[in-house]
Amino acid sequence: MKDATYRIAVLPGDGTGPEVIRAGRRVLEALAEGEAAPWSLEEYEAGATYFRDHGHEWSPGAEAAARSSDAVLLGAVGWPGVSLPNGDIAGAGLIFGLRFGLDLFANVRPCRLYPGVRHRVSGEWKQVWTPQNVDFVIIRENTEGLYTPIRGALNRGGQTEVAIDTRVITRRGAERVIRYAFDLSKRRGRGAPEDHRRRVTCVDKANVLRGCQFFREVFEEVGADFPEVEREYAYVDAFTQWMVRNPEHYDVVVTTNMFGDIVTDLAAVLQGGMGFAAGGNIGAQHAMFEPVHGSSPKHAGKNEINPFATFSAIEMMLRWLGEQRSDSRMTLQADRLEGAVRRVLGDGSARTYDQGGTVTTSEAGERVAAAIRSGDRP
Ligand code: IPM
Ligand code: MN
Repeated sequence: MKDATYRIAVLPGDGTGPEVIRAGRRVLEALAEGEAAPWSLEEYEAGATYFRDHGHEWSPGAEAAARSSDAVLLGAVGWPGVSLPNGDIAGAGLIFGLRFGLDLFANVRPCRLYPGVRHRVSGEWKQVWTPQNVDFVIIRENTEGLYTPIRGALNRGGQTEVAIDTRVITRRGAERVIRYAFDLSKRRGRGAPEDHRRRVTCVDKANVLRGCQFFREVFEEVGADFPEVEREYAYVDAFTQWMVRNPEHYDVVVTTNMFGDIVTDLAAVLQGGMGFAAGGNIGAQHAMFEPVHGSSPKHAGKNEINPFATFSAIEMMLRWLGEQRSDSRMTLQADRLEGAVRRVLGDGSARTYDQGGTVTTSEAGERVAAAIRSGDRP
């Protein structure tokens, strides 16, 4: 155990970002009550609306603080109609600046359905998936693929004639994210809900794309180091239907950047919606955690957005710090938070609008904070 205090850079960002971060901070305060919190939170303005008002995406000191912090907690970035001079969404400097700048190569997106969480299909509440059959993790490559900033458009005489995005798959990029996936399957240990087998599924389009054939080759090589973990392949198009129909088959899934972006939004449906989807952008030394839902302009300013994705992002952050620094205090705090989230979701006492309830964002935060206070202390 270390005495270190972790410096957490908090970037609430745009739209509903500040609302979910406010609720998240209440939960962190509850965890820290009665003892010296092993973390300090440094909050900075940054993002699209900051850019609109000030002409830069980062407020003074924000970028340096994010880069030198022990972990970054991000709300959301992006606002309609606000773009950078080069046409990118304003806020890209945060999300891609940190993903690429800190080399956060693995985007880890757990997909688990908590007891008490409902899902709506065709506008009706239906029990299509169960907590027993939804518990897997998608690992999305986060620093190359179709997101490689080697792109451009050819404009002749004021008209765009062609636009090109280059999809880059490198050995190093593939190797490290695939190794991360196998390691994770080992560490999780529980395997897929269906058969308790440890399994890593490589999701690609190797029947067509050369980059995907290469990704598979590297997958084979890395997988050979993990004889205890089953190797499996799925073409991304087929995978989407298998994931929805038979989620219990999956333990850990690894895929390239763009495919990972798409399939993780679909996976969020299995966990009750985007309101529950959390992600960690993980590198060798740094990491950034965020709810996946984005700034949700439609819901901004209404104190109605579901903050549970943020609570799960915070849990992932505490757990990552605990593992990274071999600090069991942080792992215990992550367990306390997860326990409180499970209790509050399980009894249905914090249903926000997307769950058919009327509980507000801040009330949901207060309920989880109260559950932390009344739960077992470490
Ligand atoms: C995500 C988001 C981002 C992405 C956007 C906001 C640039 O959709 O984190 O999944 O495409 O990676
Ligand atoms: Mn996305």
